[in-house]
Amino acid sequence: EDLGVVAVGFSGGQCKPGVDAAPSALIESGLLSSLRDELNYKLHGDDTVHSYKDLVPKEDPPFRNMKNPKAVSSVTERLCDQVYAHAREGRMVLTLGGDHSIAIGTIAGSAKAVRERLGREMAVIWVDAHADINTPETSGSGNIHGMPVSFLTGLSKEEKPEYFGWLKSDHLINVKKLVYIGLRDVDAGEKRILRENGIKAFSMFDIDRHGIGRVVEMALAHIGSDTPIHLSFDVDALDPMWAPSTGTPVRGGLTLREGDYICESVHMTGSLVAVDLVEVNPSLAPEVELGAHETVRAGCSLVRCALGESLL
Ligand code: ARG
Ligand code: MN
Ligand code: MN
Ligand code: MN
Repeated sequence: EDLGVVAVGFSGGQCKPGVDAAPSALIESGLLSSLRDELNYKLHGDDTVHSYKDLVPKEDPPFRNMKNPKAVSSVTERLCDQVYAHAREGRMVLTLGGDHSIAIGTIAGSAKAVRERLGREMAVIWVDAHADINTPETSGSGNIHGMPVSFLTGLSKEEKPEYFGWLKSDHLINVKKLVYIGLRDVDAGEKRILRENGIKAFSMFDIDRHGIGRVVEMALAHIGSDTPIHLSFDVDALDPMWAPSTGTPVRGGLTLREGDYICESVHMTGSLVAVDLVEVNPSLAPEVELGAHETVRAGCSLVRCALGESLL
């Protein structure tokens, strides 16, 4: 099977340096070679880690409270084209982030390709401690990695092309086809947005109550069978015990096994079209080297499960 790979060394959606080094760390630890050699994927685009330096402007003052707005807008616009080009060829697409702002590009690109190729609305499974659905106005931080879902659902709109105005209706997803798993740190404004739009969300409370098996079953039932799925996995969905090296860790998260289970289950639907793995930051952890090693290892495991490893 063909796999488009986009390695995104970009950190402008938040303020901590280091998350741009994740793709290289994941690749150096053997992720792509195992996909090629063990899972028998034919890789495309795996030879480059993109830094998009040429797209990052010198002057990039806040706009509507967003930090680095021009950089994030132009990088995600470019990334959208890259993901679209792979998906248009019928390839599964794997994107290695980078912070979660990059999902603006990956989901826009795959949503558009799915519309064109299959005439279908794509579903998104967003696995995260956070909802990342702030609008520029509700965000307390101004960090765009806390906003991608609001732009992708059309809840945040902007005309100016250099500030995400390049997002057109064919890039967007339906809030009815979005489902969250793993939430436990959702801002007050985000809770209101989730409630007012009837967005399906399974928090850690739901996982404690029903177990991961039932939660994934309910999440997939919400989407409906035979719907193309984009899986966007923020490594901070995992408990910091498994993934300490990330910019916004939150205790009380998924075990690695629960994360792997989500990925395996989504793979088993046969409907997966794209996977993002984001927010691995090898330079952050109480014990940096050990933490980075564990987090990278966890990230590799999640991706391999999503792409079909370990099914007997
Ligand atoms: N809700 C917070 C914010 O808006 C945290 C977002 C964290 N997002 C992430 N992709 N790690 O800034
Ligand atoms: Mn390409
Ligand atoms: Mn998160
Ligand atoms: Mn996130």
